[in-house]
Amino acid sequence: MKVSLFGLGYVGCVTAGCLAKAGHQVWGVDVNRNKVDIINSGRSPIIEEEIDQIIGDEVRGGRLSATTDHLSAILNTDISLICVGTPSNSNGSLNLEIVMAVCRQIGEALRQKETYHCLVLRSTVLPGTIRDHVVSLLTKSSGKRVDIDFDLCFNPEFLREGSSVHDFYHPPLTIIGQRTAKGGDRVAELYQHLDAPLERTSIEVAEAVKYACNSFHALKVAFANEMGVFCKGLGIDSHPVMELFARDTKLNISTTYLKPGFAFGGSCLPKDLRALLYRAKEMDVGLPVLNALLESNRLHVQRVVDMILDTRKKKICILGLSFKAGTDDLRESPMVTLVEALIGKGCWVKIYDSNVSLAKIFGANKEYIEKEIPHISSLMSSDIEKVIQEAEVIVIGNRSPEFKEVLKPYMEDSRRIILDLVRIIPNISGTPENYHGICW
Ligand SMILES: NC(=O)c1ccc[n+]([C@@H]2O[C@H](COP(=O)([O-])OP(=O)(O)OC[C@H]3O[C@@H](n4cnc5c(N)ncnc54)[C@H](O)[C@@H]3O)[C@@H](O)[C@H]2O)c1
Repeated sequence: MKVSLFGLGYVGCVTAGCLAKAGHQVWGVDVNRNKVDIINSGRSPIIEEEIDQIIGDEVRGGRLSATTDHLSAILNTDISLICVGTPSNSNGSLNLEIVMAVCRQIGEALRQKETYHCLVLRSTVLPGTIRDHVVSLLTKSSGKRVDIDFDLCFNPEFLREGSSVHDFYHPPLTIIGQRTAKGGDRVAELYQHLDAPLERTSIEVAEAVKYACNSFHALKVAFANEMGVFCKGLGIDSHPVMELFARDTKLNISTTYLKPGFAFGGSCLPKDLRALLYRAKEMDVGLPVLNALLESNRLHVQRVVDMILDTRKKKICILGLSFKAGTDDLRESPMVTLVEALIGKGCWVKIYDSNVSLAKIFGANKEYIEKEIPHISSLMSSDIEKVIQEAEVIVIGNRSPEFKEVLKPYMEDSRRIILDLVRIIPNISGTPENYHGICW
């Protein structure tokens, strides 16, 4: 393919060199004349393993050249990658000035082009940026129709400085955010040579994934360091601890617990976190990340309370009281906290949970239910249809398979609001107006 690449910084140089090496014809474009000259002389303007050699080979082989001329780059290519910087402003907000400036230049160049062009943003931008800012700028500056005369895609960059050439050839995943299948097809062609899974999704999802990745990486580093100082305070070497921790790929380094839903609870997580934090406090070891977890969890429960109270409806039914389907354990259940908050605000609450109802009669938690939460126990009903019929708001608290079936007739029922805390309905596109997810 004939590719133009705007922004010959770190990401741009690696991408330009590697795409040229894969057989594409690449025009690198930058406003910095010095960088352009360095590349055209067969050298790399950035220091990175292998990249000097790759750029040298590709410039000499005639597959890579650089220019400061945006117009000729657009006229001579079919697809453009935008890799300019998106730095922070002093208040922390994202500075889009460079992205907007290059898009304006590209739009003006497109105005002079007769044929279709595909534009691909690779710079990291906040979710919604393309929809809210880039589309209108490009349509205005080019005078052309998005999705018809030109396509606009988002293809997040996952290179790590220091191993970026290797990362380019071995990505864990290539993500293409697309508005049209045609646009996505063009971007996919760029990566045909890579033996890596390729996922196509909406532009907004692709933009958001990049932030999920970087926030999670930062969280992992801070978490490992906090566990490190906690262990050090106790005279324990943290490395074998974290090595064993990372060996568990079922619960730890895994997708388990990575699904947005309701708050954590149960007999272990809150208790063990509190114990660790208390011990750390005794040792004067500050653990701000771990400390924030209980407050984050409390806020999440409060969010649901507020969502329910904001409906101005008072008759609430709770489907599922235990923290997950198939258990009757209610110790530190956030659902219990939720119910208590609703009762406190004067709501009429009824609860259906077949496991808890059985436990109330026979189970191991019979005593806990009768002694610790008698006020909750008295709100329980074994008639799911009846509790739904009487309610104005239906809260789904766990993924018990029976809920999905029983809720079907109420999905289009505008008299009842359904608030889903566990994403019992996997595909929300096309869900009715009365359905609300807690964090989706
Ligand atoms: N550096 C990384 O490891 C990395 C990894 C993944 C994603 N990203 C993201 O990729 C984007 C680019 O990062 P970077 O580190 O390569 O940026 P950078 O600031 O090093 O390079 C950007 C380049 O764009 C050029 N430029 C500025 N205005 C231009 C214009 N109008 N036309 C053409 N070129 C122009 C600059 O001269 C510069 O050479 C950022 O959004 C960043 O967040 C970076």
